[in-house]
Amino acid sequence: ALVPTGDLVTAARESGQCCPAFNVIQLEHAAAVVAAAERSHCPVILQVSQNAVRYHGALEPVGAAMLATARTARTPVAVHLDHAETAELVESAVTLGFSSVMFDASTLDYDDNVRETERVARYCHDNGVWVEAELGEVGGKGGVHVPGARTDPGEAARFVRDTGVDALAVAVGTSHAMLTRDAELDFALIERLHAALTVPLVLHGSSGVADDDLCAAVRSGMGKINIATQLNKEFTAAVRDSLATHPDGVDPRRYLGAGREAITHETLRLLAVLSGT
Ligand code: G3H
Ligand code: ZN
Repeated sequence: ALVPTGDLVTAARESGQCCPAFNVIQLEHAAAVVAAAERSHCPVILQVSQNAVRYHGALEPVGAAMLATARTARTPVAVHLDHAETAELVESAVTLGFSSVMFDASTLDYDDNVRETERVARYCHDNGVWVEAELGEVGGKGGVHVPGARTDPGEAARFVRDTGVDALAVAVGTSHAMLTRDAELDFALIERLHAALTVPLVLHGSSGVADDDLCAAVRSGMGKINIATQLNKEFTAAVRDSLATHPDGVDPRRYLGAGREAITHETLRLLAVLSGT
C-alpha cells in the first residue's frame, strides 16, 4: 500500500531503526525493491531523483509506475522525489500524489538555502506532503567528491527552525556514487546532530559505507538511509553476465530480468543488515 513517508520514518525511529530509501531509475528497480520488501515484510521508500527524471524527460511516466507499484504492494511503500532542485519539479510530484519530496538547495549559501527551502516546505505542507532538505552539501552529485564536507549542528538546528522541514540530509563523511566501500563516517557528529535536531536525519551516499558502519549510523540516530549506486552496481553486473552468457539473445526481458533479480537479491541483503540494528 502507498503510505506517507513521515509515518514510515517516525515509526522506524520510535523503534531505534531507520527506513531505507532505494533509488529507482526504471520500472525494474521499483518492482525488484518492492519484491524484496514484501518478502522481508519491511516497509520501504521508493525514490526517484531529478537526475533520473531528466533521463526520462519527465516525472510522470516513471513516477506513475512507482506509485502503481507502491499501491499494489503487500507491504507499506512510500514514494519520494529525491534531490529536486526546482519548485516546478516539486509541484509535479505533489500533483502526481507522491508521499514526499526532497528539495536540495544545498549548493546555495545558507541564507538562500533557507529562503528557497522555506518556500517549498510551505507549499508542500499546504498539500500534506513531507519535506526533506539538505544542509552541508553531501558531495559526489556532480562528480565532485567532497569527503571533508560537514554539517554544523547549531546551524542545522537553526535551519530546521527557519524552514520548517520534516527531515534533514546531513554531511557526515559520505559522498554520492562511491563504488569503493571506504567512506569514514563521523559517528560523534551524527550523535551531536541527532541531539540538536527534532527532525529525523537522512544519510545520503550510503553505497560507500560498510554494513557495520551503516548499522552504527542508525544506532547514532539516522532515520532514513538512501541507497542508489549499490543497486545499480548489482543490476549492471547481472545484465553484463547475462549478455555474455547469451551473446546471440535479442529479448531484453532476459537481461533486464536478470538485473531485476540482482536488485531484489541485494535489497533483501540490505534489509536484513539494516533490520539487525
Ligand atoms: O539520494 C540518493 C543517495 O544519496 C544515494 O547515494 O548512490 O551513494 O547510494 P549512493
Ligand atoms: Zn543523495
